[in-house]
Amino acid sequence: MYQVKDMSIESEISANKNTSLKNSNKSALEYDLFDSIVGYDDIKKLFQLSFGSQRPIHILLVGPPASAKTLFMLGCMKLDRSYFTLGTHSTKSGMVDYLFEKRPRYLIIDEIEHMSIRDQTALLSLMETGIIAETKHMKTRNTQLKTWVFATSNQTNHMLTPLLSRFMVLHFKQYKYENFLDISIHMLAQEGITKDVANEVAAQVWQKMKSKDIRDCIKIAHLAKTKNDVNWIVETLLKYNNPSYSTKK
Ligand SMILES: Nc1ncnc2c1ncn2[C@@H]1O[C@H](COP(=O)(O)OP(=O)(O)O)[C@@H](O)[C@H]1O
Ligand SMILES: [Mg+2]
Repeated sequence: MYQVKDMSIESEISANKNTSLKNSNKSALEYDLFDSIVGYDDIKKLFQLSFGSQRPIHILLVGPPASAKTLFMLGCMKLDRSYFTLGTHSTKSGMVDYLFEKRPRYLIIDEIEHMSIRDQTALLSLMETGIIAETKHMKTRNTQLKTWVFATSNQTNHMLTPLLSRFMVLHFKQYKYENFLDISIHMLAQEGITKDVANEVAAQVWQKMKSKDIRDCIKIAHLAKTKNDVNWIVETLLKYNNPSYSTKK
């Protein structure tokens, strides 16, 4: 039985709960956990293989912003006994305590490069042997877990090298225009936006705004009803553009 657990980060995640797999008797492998992601069929398959493997196979997705890394983590969250944490928040929310108490099967870490060295060190051992140990107030506690670790990172410079070597590392490439167009049209169609307008939005965001972020398409498409509207909105955004705004090359 697979179900979405209670987790407390941001609205994107609570939205994800709508796709709960609760009360179903199908196995996770029959589900497309990643049905909101366009393309990447090979990566989806690798994840499915990892879920089904006897021993944990840890996966790290590395790539530029807006390349669907977090979407993959949100998909993994639909697995039962998964625990999601942000690298930036891991210590604050007590990752090690959580591991001891809840013994998650899947540990999902978005933006792992921001994780403290203390938590990276704990992870090293968890990933290699399943053992976690902690000394606090002169007392030591140990336990052994069978936990798969799935993580994302924008780059790998800030990660401990031995930690990196414990992952199967997959580097996502920046989208080419044709990928960007496909994904935008697909996403915008789901929101009831016509192909005509979606095409125009994607073209203008990419060519005029020099952005490769599909979120920019979504924002503009929500305001525009016609191609003329798209033109006007993009012109206005460019007029009030901050030079740092269009750096997503
Ligand atoms: N392959 C894709 N399929 C569907 N949506 C995508 C895809 N790539 C990017 N997006 C869109 O871009 C947004 C950013 O994706 P996200 O996973 O947060 O990127 P990252 O974590 O790599 O920065 C998503 O919310 C979605 O709207
Ligand atoms: Mg992300």
